[in-house]
Amino acid sequence: MKVIQVGIGGMGNAWINTVLQSSDVSFVGFVEVNDAVIQEQAVRYDIDRSRIFKSLAEALRSVRADAVINVTPPQFHKEVSLLAMDAGLPVLSEKPLAGTLSDAQAIVNKSNETGVLHMITQNYRYHVPIQTVKQALDSGAVGKVGAVTVEFFKGPHFGGFREEMPYPLIIDMSIHHFDLIRFFLGSDPVSVYGRSWNPPWSWYKGDASASVSLAFANGAVVAYNGSWCSNGKETPWNANWRFECEKGVVTLVNDEVYVQHLLGVEEGTGFRSNRYDDLTLIPPVVMERQAQAYLLHEFYEAVKTGKKPATTCQDNIKSLGIVFDVVQSFATGEVVQSSVSK
Ligand SMILES: NC(=O)c1ccc[n+]([C@@H]2O[C@H](COP(=O)([O-])OP(=O)(O)OC[C@H]3O[C@@H](n4cnc5c(N)ncnc54)[C@H](O)[C@@H]3O)[C@@H](O)[C@H]2O)c1
Repeated sequence: MKVIQVGIGGMGNAWINTVLQSSDVSFVGFVEVNDAVIQEQAVRYDIDRSRIFKSLAEALRSVRADAVINVTPPQFHKEVSLLAMDAGLPVLSEKPLAGTLSDAQAIVNKSNETGVLHMITQNYRYHVPIQTVKQALDSGAVGKVGAVTVEFFKGPHFGGFREEMPYPLIIDMSIHHFDLIRFFLGSDPVSVYGRSWNPPWSWYKGDASASVSLAFANGAVVAYNGSWCSNGKETPWNANWRFECEKGVVTLVNDEVYVQHLLGVEEGTGFRSNRYDDLTLIPPVVMERQAQAYLLHEFYEAVKTGKKPATTCQDNIKSLGIVFDVVQSFATGEVVQSSVSK
């Protein structure tokens, strides 16, 4: 399968490397608007300069591609996606689906109208610790999930668009965690409530810290606390998680998954404690492909065989919907009924 990659700086590196390592997918062209990035990447990856175009329209006129990989910042996702789908080319796009919900809806509408596949790269779903948690929850050993606590604290200095955008934590990062919540629970939210703020030391223009409560259709309640301008004891990118379940607890702490089962209640009268087995480390699942490599393979299979991927734009708008419902709650100070469940 021959692809054009749009956006080759930043995260574009991860996709260039993933495609270069694939035996099924290869490059037929690139699109990049920044001359310095073109210069640097052409040298780094030994790319023929005549294969790097200044716009997707120009690339589409010049080379024959089977698909497009979009690694531009969120505000360009609609433009790139619509152009590709109008040309009949399936799109594998970086998250978030788009920078606004109306842009995201336009992408979903175009995919529905044209029948062209548009898939989002929610790579966090395909990390080993995440798949290990999913297997532990789905095994049934701990029963139904009643509540989830998520803690995410990091202090990255990105520069660029993240330091200028509103709600950088929630829009650019928490989309991964919100998508993971839907993935873990197999359920969609009914309402959200949140508060955001920007600590005095923040190097972001938009609010970089937030606390959110999400109620899900299956009855689970999720407490999400995060910051992108933390000043110590950072969590992993996957975040730390605690799942309170009817027959025990599953935790993901520093990318290790633990389980503890409820055995019953102590014998006797008066105050009695629960009895548990030992907290046990769950061995990591074995994955043939992970993250970007998993997604690229899933995209390739979908294009070749028509098999539907998990993270189509039609599914992903439900994860992005959480982001914008949360933002609405920040702005209004009110509980927001989910746009996903309407
Ligand atoms: N899944 C992940 O883990 C992950 C991690 C980082 C970034 N991302 C996502 O990847 C996307 C890109 O982020 P980034 O950090 O690489 O940003 P970036 O600004 O570092 O790089 C984007 C590149 O795209 C180029 N570009 C911008 N507009 C363009 C256009 N219209 N046509 C062609 N090229 C264009 C820029 O010149 C730049 O080289 C974002 O949507 C971001 O959220 C995902």
